[in-house]
Amino acid sequence: MIKVSDLKKDFPIFDREINGKRLTYLDSGATSQKPELVINEMSNVYSNINANVHRGTYVLSSETTAKYEDVRNKLKEFINAYSSDEIIFTKGCTEGFNFLANSICKDLNPGDEIILSEIEHHANIIPWQMVAEKYNLKIKYINITESFNLDIDHFESLLNSNTKVVSIVGESNMSGMLPDIKKLNSLIREKTNAIYIVDGAQLVPHRKIDVQDLGIDFICVSGHKMLGPTGIGVVWGRKELLEKLDPVYGGGDMIEEVFYETATWAPIPHKFEAGTPPYVEAIGLGAAVDYLTKLDMKNVEKHSDELRLYAKNKLENIDRLNIVHTNSNLAGCTFAMSVEGVHATDVSLMLDTFGVAVRAGHHCVQPFHRKLNLDATFRATGYIYNDEEDFDILSNTIEESIKLLT
Ligand code: ALA
Repeated sequence: MIKVSDLKKDFPIFDREINGKRLTYLDSGATSQKPELVINEMSNVYSNINANVHRGTYVLSSETTAKYEDVRNKLKEFINAYSSDEIIFTKGCTEGFNFLANSICKDLNPGDEIILSEIEHHANIIPWQMVAEKYNLKIKYINITESFNLDIDHFESLLNSNTKVVSIVGESNMSGMLPDIKKLNSLIREKTNAIYIVDGAQLVPHRKIDVQDLGIDFICVSGHKMLGPTGIGVVWGRKELLEKLDPVYGGGDMIEEVFYETATWAPIPHKFEAGTPPYVEAIGLGAAVDYLTKLDMKNVEKHSDELRLYAKNKLENIDRLNIVHTNSNLAGCTFAMSVEGVHATDVSLMLDTFGVAVRAGHHCVQPFHRKLNLDATFRATGYIYNDEEDFDILSNTIEESIKLLT
């Protein structure tokens, strides 16, 4: 069980007041707050052991390298990867998708197809658009139903022998939708030889993930959304696929031998990590993984599910509030909202005066906003340090804001 009042004490930011009010932070979909443990661990590296990884034979470099490499083991356990070599550090999910799109698609043939969904984050659209143009590939989008779920029949109808990549969000940052990853996986395997990638940016911070059980090929993970620092993320991929892929970035540390004319690559994971990696950020992410592991991801899931139901009930009772949220029984605690005749930014500015932090805009899901005839929504996302009181404050202040703004 998560006891929010105790847990909040681990996060220094909750000592702050905003506009004279307690901080009601409901924007963890954009980035999570950081426990002291993570902040201290990064400070410890800089203060006591800092040296570049994989380069020195001296004590400091060996200690930093050991800590950095140990984070791969922690992440392997956290998502149940087959091996720690399958954990590739990136700057974040966006870099992860750019790496996968470029590396996978250069071996495809003109006319090959990539399947995304209508509710993808731009990070899982733009890299594919860029490579599709370069290699003459076709992108198809799975329809989203009126209740903000994937249209599975439509998905099935899109699958064919030309489908080479399927890349779909694991938890929507707009509607909270949680697609049935295992079901999608079996449909893909039945009808294609496609590579199945999951966007884990919102999923991995909130749910217990077992990549072996899900049967997927790759998942992109964002560190800063799961209590870790910015500038660090992970691509997990099956070893046999990673071994076949070429690196996209060249430079130091990713090579085996270099000649003036050519070079050979280091084994995985290093062939994908050119240059000095963000090792302090990776070690900070390791501390975040320790924190979540100690909480137990099953408790994190339970907390998210209970909070979502409470929040949904509260928000659905507000007059004139339109909510973009899946009707499914299982979903993320994410609510994109709008009020007819009032701009989302005005609502969020008004909420800020009450100390309530929500995101306003298209949340990097512009095509789907356009499809719904919305130019923007304001969005509240709950995480482990939020409780019912936060959503009471949110719903009261939304009601107050509607009164003041209309
Ligand atoms: N992708 C992040 C969000 O949904 C930034 O807010």
